Amino acid sequence: MARIPDAFIDELLARSDIVEIVGARVPLKKQGREYSARCPFHDERSPSFTVSPTKQFYHCFGCGAHGTAISFLMNYDRLEFLDAVDELAKRAGLEVPRDTRQRNEDGDTRDVYSALDAASTFFRRQLAQNDKARAYVDKRGIDAGIVERFGIGYAPDGFSALRDALGTDPRRMQLLERAGLFSKNDRGNIYDKFRDRLMFPIHDRRGRVIAFGGRVIDPEDTPKYLNSPETALFHKGRELYGLWQAKQANTRLERLVVVEGYMDVVALAQYGVSQAVATLGTATTPEHAELLFRNAPDVYFCFDGDRAGRSAAWKALESVLPRMKDGRQALFLFLPEGEDPDTLVRKEGIAGFDAHLHAATPLSEFFFAHMSADVNLSSLDGKARLAERCKPLLAQIPDGAFGDLMQQRLVELTGVGARASAPQVHVPMQRPRGGPPSAQKPSLVRSAIQHLLHRPAIALELQPPDRYADARQPGIELLRELVQLVRERPDIGTGGLLEHFAGRDESAALQKLAAQELPGEEPALRAEFLGAIEQLEKQVLQQRIDELQQRMSELGEAEKYELRALLQSRLQR
Ligand code: UTP
Ligand code: MN
Repeated sequence: MARIPDAFIDELLARSDIVEIVGARVPLKKQGREYSARCPFHDERSPSFTVSPTKQFYHCFGCGAHGTAISFLMNYDRLEFLDAVDELAKRAGLEVPRDTRQRNEDGDTRDVYSALDAASTFFRRQLAQNDKARAYVDKRGIDAGIVERFGIGYAPDGFSALRDALGTDPRRMQLLERAGLFSKNDRGNIYDKFRDRLMFPIHDRRGRVIAFGGRVIDPEDTPKYLNSPETALFHKGRELYGLWQAKQANTRLERLVVVEGYMDVVALAQYGVSQAVATLGTATTPEHAELLFRNAPDVYFCFDGDRAGRSAAWKALESVLPRMKDGRQALFLFLPEGEDPDTLVRKEGIAGFDAHLHAATPLSEFFFAHMSADVNLSSLDGKARLAERCKPLLAQIPDGAFGDLMQQRLVELTGVGARASAPQVHVPMQRPRGGPPSAQKPSLVRSAIQHLLHRPAIALELQPPDRYADARQPGIELLRELVQLVRERPDIGTGGLLEHFAGRDESAALQKLAAQELPGEEPALRAEFLGAIEQLEKQVLQQRIDELQQRMSELGEAEKYELRALLQSRLQR
């Protein structure tokens, strides 16, 4: 993907008002300098979500959600990055730099979307006109409302129904081919890929048709389900069938239920479970996991109770583990033998299905049951084995209460902790050589970093060479990096800085610092920052003096001169 220049993003964020963007979607209450609300990204009674107009970012003290206006639109409106940028640019009256725009709204791509849409309309019409297909829909118990809501259609038998209807000129043929709707035989003849199948259109996050899944009607045909091939618009490891409909049916998704099949999704919807989605004949990928949790805090995975089902469930667990931030929950539902959600909900209704969901196994339980399945926990060896085995997996859980509880559970089971060493966060939270604990003040570096995060432009007041950066203090490298980043991107805001560090060890600590209120007015805050830098420079000066004085007897002329100058300048300060 073409990159949008950082400078443009900084300007865009500087010209957008995050309070307005968030406020249009979440009721905000002014509190001092900031605004607060109940967090839209997790369940809570009292508001711990804050939006800061000066820092131009949002932060939730409950679940840790945070970011800029761009990430808010991505997470709340579920837009792709480029679409979120477009949206803000439109409001701010800015032109997105040209080369990226062209990619984003590439005319050809738009035409492929229209070809898919036309095909979908064609299939829907065919279903209405075809007795056999309608009889099959009836036999499966799918009602008219669901056919409509999911845009279910029928691809006629024969080799060229779609081709004859829509491939009326070479350009259209080419678009349908790029949409993945044709196959080609050995002799190079092009024919309809989907024939005599019930068609389920697959929608993207904006409700556009990007692919199809087709089920045979004749039980003799194979394969039972045929999916569109991977195309420029469709990557099956990244899409979830039914997510669009789930989002349409729910103003806020409290949960998502992941099932295996198209029929399961539509049957559940018909019986009132409107939050079901399906992976498309693949295992749950890490991308799926991300997409699921971006849309709902609780995710239920439904699998068959057999061995294949359990191994698929374990794969899903491996994909979600690194995404188990606090506030998220993954649960596993193993279905009774011979049932799938489609048959189950038809038999037991929504109440029955909900009861199964309520009884679902939490991730923690499934995790330890699976890990200790072949381990004898009454022996020391067995306990050690389990602890050893869990280590790499538990290490993938993001820092937070959930990870701590998992560690604790492991200790209960084995008496051994798995965390070799707590992850080090390289921002000093406390003055290293402080007085008594009660008198500890935040370190200079920490204070400088915090000021810089709150009002990045303050870094522009520092002139190179960055003498403070030679101070032997933890976090000093980070401070220097932040200063340099602001020099390179003078319009950058708090959110932009945090985004820059996303995924790095320092990220969580930086977020905390950015989210804390800094009491005081602008001039005082500025003085505090510059004061901290000056203190650091004094330390550097003293460091050098100490160093030279230690080698007093062996100093050359130049160094003696330097020492004298340093001693003098210390007096002047
Ligand atoms: P199932 O075989 O369990 O089918 O496949 P199902 O959903 O119960 O469908 P019905 O009730 O027989 O109509 C589950 C999912 O696996 C994928 C499809 O996504 C299907 O919905 N699949 C299955 C394929 O991609 N190809 C196949 O040949 C079979
Ligand atoms: Mn089925």
